[in-house]
Amino acid sequence: MKTITIIGTQWGDEGKGKLTDILAEEADLVVRYQGGNNAGHTIVFKGQKHALHLVPAGVFRPQTQCVLASGMVIDPVALADELKQLEAAGVDTSSVVVSDRAHVILSTHRTLDVAMEAAREDRVGTTGKGIGPAYADKAARHGLRMVDFVDETRFKQTLEAYLNVANRMVKAYGATPCSAERILRDTAEARRLIAPRLKDTSVYINRALDAGKKVLFEGAQGTMLCLDHGTYPYVTSSSPTAAGVPLGAGVPPQAIKTVLGITKAYTTRVGEGHLPTEIDGDIAHAIRERGREYGTTTGRPRRIGWLDAVVLKHAKRISGITHLAVMLLDVLRGVHPLSICVGYRLDGDIIDWIPASVDDVARCEPVMITMNGFDDPLDDVKTFDDLPKNAQAYVKKIAELTSTTIAFVSVGPDRDQTIRLVDNLWEG
Ligand code: GDP
Ligand code: IMO
Ligand code: MG
Repeated sequence: MKTITIIGTQWGDEGKGKLTDILAEEADLVVRYQGGNNAGHTIVFKGQKHALHLVPAGVFRPQTQCVLASGMVIDPVALADELKQLEAAGVDTSSVVVSDRAHVILSTHRTLDVAMEAAREDRVGTTGKGIGPAYADKAARHGLRMVDFVDETRFKQTLEAYLNVANRMVKAYGATPCSAERILRDTAEARRLIAPRLKDTSVYINRALDAGKKVLFEGAQGTMLCLDHGTYPYVTSSSPTAAGVPLGAGVPPQAIKTVLGITKAYTTRVGEGHLPTEIDGDIAHAIRERGREYGTTTGRPRRIGWLDAVVLKHAKRISGITHLAVMLLDVLRGVHPLSICVGYRLDGDIIDWIPASVDDVARCEPVMITMNGFDDPLDDVKTFDDLPKNAQAYVKKIAELTSTTIAFVSVGPDRDQTIRLVDNLWEG
């Protein structure tokens, strides 16, 4: 089976969209398998910037088919808007198919997301898109799936029963209940646009794999936001790891071959929760402005930290990362010295894993090494050998600390600003 799985190794926004778009040129299928429109994946080419939230980042490659698989939670109105926007920009979206088993996000979920956050003392800092409540409904077995949503008669029936339960929760949080009529009206156009795209996507993807086609799995969020392996409770409600692929796409675990971890050359985080290598002051400010570190989905300023090899090793351990793409290296120009966290000091020991307890994580003191920085702009660098020597040494250090092969170095947001070091990643 010819597959590549793209995994965020940090707290999201590592540049997964850019890398997916690049590898999509070689892929037959690009599959989103978890999350929803909490994701914001940016792709830049021909001087234009596109932000995708639900549609896979293969949509700009005419020969590539795009799949929203069953592990996703999909806001149908947001999906319809995104498809319409893409079409208006001249992008053909006819290949985009949607799983009949994917769960649907309704206004109840968005209302609850915001109301539950407001009621908490320790906020997660969610995107407010209804992701957590939709996955909670799925686990509680009264969620609504796409197969129920697209059939108006069936949707009317299931919606009444669903709202009987959901609105009790909405009222308990002091929010305004959602009416069936309003939901039916607001989602009518989306139902019409999405219905013809519905498929059993597991059958669809497995047929492609059996036929020797190349399938790219596009992770959203990042390992540290994983419900099981992230910094709980400051996480999302799905699994953005390689383990999420078989479950969320309906493919066998053996389908996971090359696992490409995406990492920034530093670290960012939006939302609450500890960030062990967090920095503020001039360096953080310079990195935030040069890297335009503001959320693609919510516009919030991202918090900035040094690169954390403990986090990268954690991601590698869980997802079996074989290769890394080091992104936004250009942003570190002029930063002297460059620092990397190589372990955490906790109660006199040095550890290279992440403690479960939030309090223990907060007590971890990062153990840092420093490296010489570089001053030359990287925007036009096309080969690894043409990178400044100190930038080369920094990238090699990341490979050494994580025992992975560096497959890509990214030196700017554009498709063309990418140095490729490994040719055939499809062989696994
Ligand atoms: P994703 O969620 O992982 O797809 O990442 P986002 O798109 O949310 O955030 C990554 C940001 O970095 C986007 O604005 C990209 O256009 C930008 N980007 C990606 N690679 C590079 C790079 O190498 N250099 C710079 N300067 N920006 C980059
Ligand atoms: P991409 O795919 C960065 C964060 C939110 C919040 C936490 C929970 O663009 O990398 P949620 O709305 O999912 O319940 O929020 O997770 N978060 C992200 N941070 N990039 C993302 O996606 C994110 N998706 C969710 O900020 O802290
Ligand atoms: Mg993003």
